[in-house]
Amino acid sequence: MCGIVGYIGNKKASPILINGLLRLEYRGYDSAGISTIEKEGLSLMKDKGRVKNLYNIEGIDNLEGTIGIAHTRWATHGKPSKENSHPHTDNSKTFSVVHNGIIENYNEIRKFLSEKGYSFYSQTDTEVIPNLVHYYYTQDVQTDNLKLLRAVKNACFDLKGSFAIEIICKDYPDNMIVVRKDSPLVIGKGDGENYISSDIPAILSFTRNFYFLEDLEFVVLSRNDITFYDRNLNPIKKETKTIEWNASSSEKDGYEDFMLKEIYEQPTAIRETVGAKFSEDSKCEFEELNFSKEYLESLNKIYIIACGTAMHAGLAGKNAIEKLCKIPTEVDIASEFRYRNPIIDNKTLCIFISQSGETADTIAALKLSKEKGAKTLAITNVIGSSITREADYSIYTHAGPEIAVASTKAYTSQVVLLVVLAIYFAEILGLENSYITSLKKEILELPKKIEEALKNSEIVKDFSKKVYQEKDMFFLGRGIDETVAKEGSLKLKEISYIHSESYPAGELKHGPIALIENGVTVISIMTDSNLVEKTVSNIQEVITRGAKTLVITNQNIDVNQFDMVIQIPDTNPLVSPILSIIPLQLFSYYISKEKGLDVDKPRNLAKSVTVE
Ligand code: M6R
Repeated sequence: MCGIVGYIGNKKASPILINGLLRLEYRGYDSAGISTIEKEGLSLMKDKGRVKNLYNIEGIDNLEGTIGIAHTRWATHGKPSKENSHPHTDNSKTFSVVHNGIIENYNEIRKFLSEKGYSFYSQTDTEVIPNLVHYYYTQDVQTDNLKLLRAVKNACFDLKGSFAIEIICKDYPDNMIVVRKDSPLVIGKGDGENYISSDIPAILSFTRNFYFLEDLEFVVLSRNDITFYDRNLNPIKKETKTIEWNASSSEKDGYEDFMLKEIYEQPTAIRETVGAKFSEDSKCEFEELNFSKEYLESLNKIYIIACGTAMHAGLAGKNAIEKLCKIPTEVDIASEFRYRNPIIDNKTLCIFISQSGETADTIAALKLSKEKGAKTLAITNVIGSSITREADYSIYTHAGPEIAVASTKAYTSQVVLLVVLAIYFAEILGLENSYITSLKKEILELPKKIEEALKNSEIVKDFSKKVYQEKDMFFLGRGIDETVAKEGSLKLKEISYIHSESYPAGELKHGPIALIENGVTVISIMTDSNLVEKTVSNIQEVITRGAKTLVITNQNIDVNQFDMVIQIPDTNPLVSPILSIIPLQLFSYYISKEKGLDVDKPRNLAKSVTVE
């Protein structure tokens, strides 16, 4: 999705802005641009294509301005083109604006402004913003130093939809204004300089001190000050939060790609996420939570709501909660949940999972659940993200920044946190037993076992070389393994562009087996001793029809019947996705590499999906 960077200080803004945009590239985009305030007025340099193309724009090296805004655009309204790229300016070239989100009523505003004599050069929804600000600015007869802020506020109150906006004005060379509503934006506090970004990693090398904004809080930045205003423009106070991620965790550290680095970071991510929540002989503790036995006993249902990979982690969470706590648990896709009038009341607990904490559908589903009276619990990887500000409770995975679009370490961290949460609930409910004791032991051993699973890298790479030119693949599993099949299939689609389907192994014969023919690759996961024989039988059915087979297992099976078998360490079935997904992550990665694709920035995808 679109990315925003801003800088105000004493250094030349343009290199800082471009550097910030480069760090936001992973979010997915199709054009880029910057605008600075120069002695002669506003500069505006933008084009479609990669951020590095900005260096080819004539005059970019001559920019001297120490205040500027920058943007990477992911096209929604209007195709990728120079005209549609941000920043956008008004007819009089007084204001430059970058915007993330969608202005739903832009046609209405465009009509209003056209009637007032304004013209438009782009197809974007964003272009109405600088012109609307200009309109209010010229209507205001007062000349005090809040005039610009008032114009921005009045314009924002006319906008319907979601927005994170940065505005500079040639009449105010020492100020920048920012505001957000339902779209992410953070402010980084420096010393004599301040930074804006839609994402923490882009400015992490400049500061660790961040301000997070609520909807419709307005901010005026100068070099030495940051002043916050509420929606009525009353000054308000805000505290900074320190982000512990270190800047090098947003670098590749010698790995060829972020995705590979993040796959290898999983032992640490799991260790950090489990942290000190329990030891083998102590009860689980979440300092952020205070659920009582009475409350948990009163629940008639738990919903787990998320999108994509986070939703797949939710499936593992359902398994753990139902097994350990005996509370009926449903997993829903946020974009469906928000429109299907789900049955929710104050006896429902809704758990929302989102790595970024900024996914628009998940946030909307959370707001709906709150309105209907449910308690809401967010699981995210990003402190201060929008979802944590909406939820009644928030707990965190400690995976560190995940840069590759294809989620890996966030998924395994979410799975482990959900299982630990299930244990926490079970212990409050008084359901602790020897099964839980041994599960805890297994959880503590996961980092070591992930390292073991990672040792299969070369075997996986070899198999990838044999099948990377395939057009279709199938992922099969039963029970918990089927949830891993789903995630494996999503990973493959995302970064290799190979069509793949995931199915419960037993369901194959009810239709999809018609697609199996000579040479089709079928990947199956078999980690549950109660189901392994059944799955082996299903795989026999595809072998008979000529399929090539890759099996991921921790069971003792006759390996000779399959083309390739990858052995992973044994563990408790509730946490087995954390080990069985590892070869599948590597499989997608190596296929993508073999095809020469951009692993970290797959086509059409964005890291955090902040629009509906
Ligand atoms: O930031 P979130 O966890 O809310 O993102 C949800 C999905 O968009 C995300 O998991 C997506 O499916 C990933 N690209 C999967 O690799």
